[in-house]
Amino acid sequence: MILRAPLLLCLLLRLGSTEPRVVDLRQDPNVAVFESGVEGENFKLLDLDGDRLLIGARNAVYNVSLHTFRGDDAWNVLWPPADAVHKDCRMKGKSENECQNFIRVLSRDTRGGVLVCGTNAFLPWCKVFEDGPQGEDLREVLTFEAKGLSPFDPNHNSTFFRDGDMLYTGTVADFAGGDALIHRRNVSREHDLGVRTEQADDKFLNKPQFVGAMKHKEHVMMWFAEEAVECDNCGPTIYSRVARVCANDLGNHPSYPNQWTTFAKARLNCSIPGDFPFYFDRLQSISALVPARPRTPASNLVYAVFTSSLSGVSQSAVCAFDISQIWAVFATSNYLTQDRAGDPWKVTKVSKSAPRAHECEFAAANLSDAQLKTARSNMLMERPVGNFFAEPVSVQRGPEQMTQVVVEAQAPALDGRFYDILYVGSDRGNVLKIVNLARAGAPGRLISHQVLSMRVASVPIRRLLLVEEATKLVTVTETRVFRTLVAFCNASYSCAECVALRDPHCAFDLQRKQCDVVSVSRISDRERFVQSVDSGDDSRCQGQAHVENKMLMDQPGRTPKLLRATHFASQEWSDPKNTSTQVTTLLASGAAGTVPPPTVPERLLAEAGLRGVPIIVVGLGVGVLALLIGVFLGICFTYRMYVLSSEKKSLSSSYYKPPSTVLTVSSSGSAPPTTPPAIPSNEKPINAYETGPLPPPAYAEGTLGRGGLSPSALYSKQTYL
Ligand SMILES: *[C@@H]1O[C@H](CO)[C@@H](O)[C@H](O)[C@H]1NC(C)=O
Ligand SMILES: *[C@@H]1O[C@H](CO)[C@@H](O)[C@H](O)[C@H]1NC(C)=O
Ligand SMILES: *[C@@H]1O[C@H](CO)[C@@H](O)[C@H](O)[C@H]1NC(C)=O
Ligand SMILES: *[C@@H]1O[C@H](CO)[C@@H](O)[C@H](O)[C@H]1NC(C)=O
Ligand SMILES: *[C@@H]1O[C@H](CO)[C@@H](O)[C@H](O)[C@H]1NC(C)=O
Ligand SMILES: *[C@@H]1O[C@H](CO)[C@@H](O)[C@H](O)[C@H]1NC(C)=O
Ligand SMILES: *[C@@H]1O[C@H](CO)[C@@H](O)[C@H](O)[C@H]1NC(C)=O
Repeated sequence: MILRAPLLLCLLLRLGSTEPRVVDLRQDPNVAVFESGVEGENFKLLDLDGDRLLIGARNAVYNVSLHTFRGDDAWNVLWPPADAVHKDCRMKGKSENECQNFIRVLSRDTRGGVLVCGTNAFLPWCKVFEDGPQGEDLREVLTFEAKGLSPFDPNHNSTFFRDGDMLYTGTVADFAGGDALIHRRNVSREHDLGVRTEQADDKFLNKPQFVGAMKHKEHVMMWFAEEAVECDNCGPTIYSRVARVCANDLGNHPSYPNQWTTFAKARLNCSIPGDFPFYFDRLQSISALVPARPRTPASNLVYAVFTSSLSGVSQSAVCAFDISQIWAVFATSNYLTQDRAGDPWKVTKVSKSAPRAHECEFAAANLSDAQLKTARSNMLMERPVGNFFAEPVSVQRGPEQMTQVVVEAQAPALDGRFYDILYVGSDRGNVLKIVNLARAGAPGRLISHQVLSMRVASVPIRRLLLVEEATKLVTVTETRVFRTLVAFCNASYSCAECVALRDPHCAFDLQRKQCDVVSVSRISDRERFVQSVDSGDDSRCQGQAHVENKMLMDQPGRTPKLLRATHFASQEWSDPKNTSTQVTTLLASGAAGTVPPPTVPERLLAEAGLRGVPIIVVGLGVGVLALLIGVFLGICFTYRMYVLSSEKKSLSSSYYKPPSTVLTVSSSGSAPPTTPPAIPSNEKPINAYETGPLPPPAYAEGTLGRGGLSPSALYSKQTYL
């Protein structure tokens, strides 16, 4: 009994937290793989055309069937740069590999046409293809220069969003890559000047790395990281931003022709709070808008992956931002302004009633030159956009960095709640499956729980896409595309092992006595299944081999030997405000500093049953206890330090303070609606994002070998530029 308290203490210090379950899919025969056989493909964009995946690559767009996962030679668009263009590019000192055509924009329109833009050997160009009248091969119907639509350099991180005839891009418009812009152009027209951000003004954009774009109501949002200009004393610093323009901004003001008058931007605050918040400032990827079920507050979240921009600190995090909070910042924040270049930045206060020129109602109005001048200097919001859950949904420590995120919105579970399920790709080729507990209104203190880690590849993941009603996951790396399952409910798991996964996709079937993938909306007899996403409570596993994993603090009598912690990555943790051991905050600061000596919570002693014991025994007990606590604290501390320094320090869960806006969804009552809310297709973002330098040239000049593609695959009406 006396041993219990120190053991509990160790548990308090999260010694029980272990690596999540790992599923190695690298040799799995059930994983479908697409590769062209050509090195240096630089796979990039994906679009879904019915059940066909469209993959932008080097000199090609592959049209891959989701079912067979094979390319279809007749439908691949092959588009290498013309010889003259290629030669010119080489003359300008670019490498053989850079002087290829890397497809950077790929978008279908409602008429069945597809717009393809590529770097085209540093002469960006677009082509529009349409189906032939009798469904024959694609025909080229339009071609125009893609300056300001596709970057020149294939390494540049650009993005785009298509809205009918209009293509919004975040990219660079010059050979050297210095002229960054947010641009809109009518792509149904051969000639269109479009609308752009001011050229050569680093207040608008300062060496941005674009990550994604989306439309919400009348605004188009661009998400990017850039060098902060407003930070006077902090040297070169990266900040992440969300910027907004109005779709109805025609850019036709006579003083500023072809420029946005509605451009505004705000900083994104993804940080671990504390006296010295630890900031994740380098945005890497965003999800689509993730709507909530009708019964939760009408919030639309965007999940975003960030890395720390501090050199030497390798940490990444997923944060969530609420569109209405972003809107509130744009509607009410003061501005950060600078009178002249070199002047210090200052806060410009605005009265609540003053019109805000970046709001869409003023886009078409004839603002006076003076009003417009003010509007253009008041475009940076003073207030950053806060993280919806007050702290990251998930934090990854150690050298492995998160790169991409895709979300299954509001997946129903047997408890009647709806969980956002996040798939987060890493630069080591792993995909983490994380359940957002907080948004579902699950009781407990954790924001999230990491169900498992899938080992898909060994190289960075550049793009993720959920297909077939989120039952399959498409993972894109530089040269390969994988199609995997999302649920791994091994039929041979015991009931307790199955429940301990805490995966909304898995439940233990008490009739068939196995762990199954469940489609909650189709289950009529819920009593037949055991699942506990919020706590991993396996008490309904009746006569099944029992595995203890539930709420250790509630059951101090259980010996930790029974712990099967390997099956769950996040554990319940006591409220840090009630103990003085704020381990997370300390870890969060990234400093390998000292851990403050934890004090023994008195409650623990009481719970350990020290009440009503004769005084001598108590004396002896306290002595022994003190000794044991000392020893155990030593062990705990050493272990903590070991965990701190060990390579893979993944911490999938964080302490959660429920924001007042998160309501609990009642888990009783009638069956929930069956289909997840559809995300309007025009609100789906495109992540045009890539990592790392290009590999060396893959094949010698002049060869046509495209690994398995017949020459008939060459687009027949190809016109070379
Ligand atoms: C992809 O191939 C299918 C036929 O397999 C075709 O119907 C579809 O139009 C193609 N999509 C594009 C954008 O080429
Ligand atoms: C884009 O250009 C086409 C062709 O000129 C025109 O028909 C269409 O109305 C334009 N779209 C918009 C949104 O201006
Ligand atoms: C803006 O000015 C133009 C002429 O310069 C005029 O035709 C138009 O009605 C004005 N629009 C508004 C909203 O004032
Ligand atoms: C960012 O948010 C945290 C709380 O989540 C807060 O402590 C911090 O002050 C915020 N930073 C800025 C610059 O507003
Ligand atoms: C299922 O679990 C058993 C034992 O735990 C293991 O041997 C088997 O390989 C697992 N199957 C899959 C598909 O993971
Ligand atoms: C600390 O715990 C007590 C009971 O254990 C609870 O009533 C109190 O609200 C907790 N304090 C905080 C700040 O959560
Ligand atoms: C694009 O983004 C990735 C990931 O942040 C970065 O490693 C790479 O350097 C960026 N590319 C360029 C040209 O800056």
